[in-house]
Amino acid sequence: MAIFTSSTLDVPNTSSIPRHIAIVMDGNGRWAKNRLMPRVAGHKRGVDAVKRTVQACCELGVEHLTLFAFSSENWRRPPEEVSVLMRLFIRVLRKDVEAMHRENICLRIVGDTTAFEPELQAAIASAQELTKNNTRLYLNIAANYGGRWDILQATKNMLKSRPDLADNPELITEASLSQHLCLQGSPEPDLFIRTGGEQRVSNFLLWQLAYTEFYFTDKFWPDFGKPMLLEAIDSYNNRERRFGRTSEQIQPQLVNVLQSAQ
Ligand code: FPP
Repeated sequence: MAIFTSSTLDVPNTSSIPRHIAIVMDGNGRWAKNRLMPRVAGHKRGVDAVKRTVQACCELGVEHLTLFAFSSENWRRPPEEVSVLMRLFIRVLRKDVEAMHRENICLRIVGDTTAFEPELQAAIASAQELTKNNTRLYLNIAANYGGRWDILQATKNMLKSRPDLADNPELITEASLSQHLCLQGSPEPDLFIRTGGEQRVSNFLLWQLAYTEFYFTDKFWPDFGKPMLLEAIDSYNNRERRFGRTSEQIQPQLVNVLQSAQ
């Protein structure tokens, strides 16, 4: 899987179905509040939206899906809410991993998992072990993840594995660093979706989103599913991805058509 491609160095292959979709699943709390329900009810319904989205990605042929489930900053939430989220992660990992395995889904938890309680760490390890050879959809769940943390841990690990680079920093390339990022082996996301109305990255995949197309919707995450995913993909298909180049460079066939019409 580990083939290095970089949107800042090459023009990646693109197709009408994004190869990699990254999602900030926001709005669970407000979804619940609007229904006079506790915030955690929104997170529970959020799990159903995760399942619908994973299913839709499998059906559509999306190869990589990365979901932001818990940021490095989410520990600042009320302890009861953090605790419910942890219980939910454990429950999903135990209860739903067999179904994911049957669907040929490869599950990877990305983030600093050492901060989690041992029960959750064990559930993560066994779910990853069970699904590690699956290939239909690479499902990355970002948990205790932060983009800055990721770049820092990659830098530390790069220098640990190549101590000579500290004395020869000019030898450091994108490839030397990015092979230590949590999502190494996945192509950079083509499409970033954020539900819940906010228009920010919130310390998600800071390195990998360099040339990703952004899509924001006011809809709350518990209402998300295939129809909204298709709306986002439709918007994505109306973008021209130029990766810093001109239209003519990206679409040489367009230049030929224009020239032959003259
Ligand atoms: C943001 O909504 C959502 C989260 C911080 C948690 C996301 C978790 C899930 C969808 C459930 C579990 C997921 C998996 C992969 C098992 P918010 O609480 O910030 O909503 P608000 O902005 O309306 O308050």
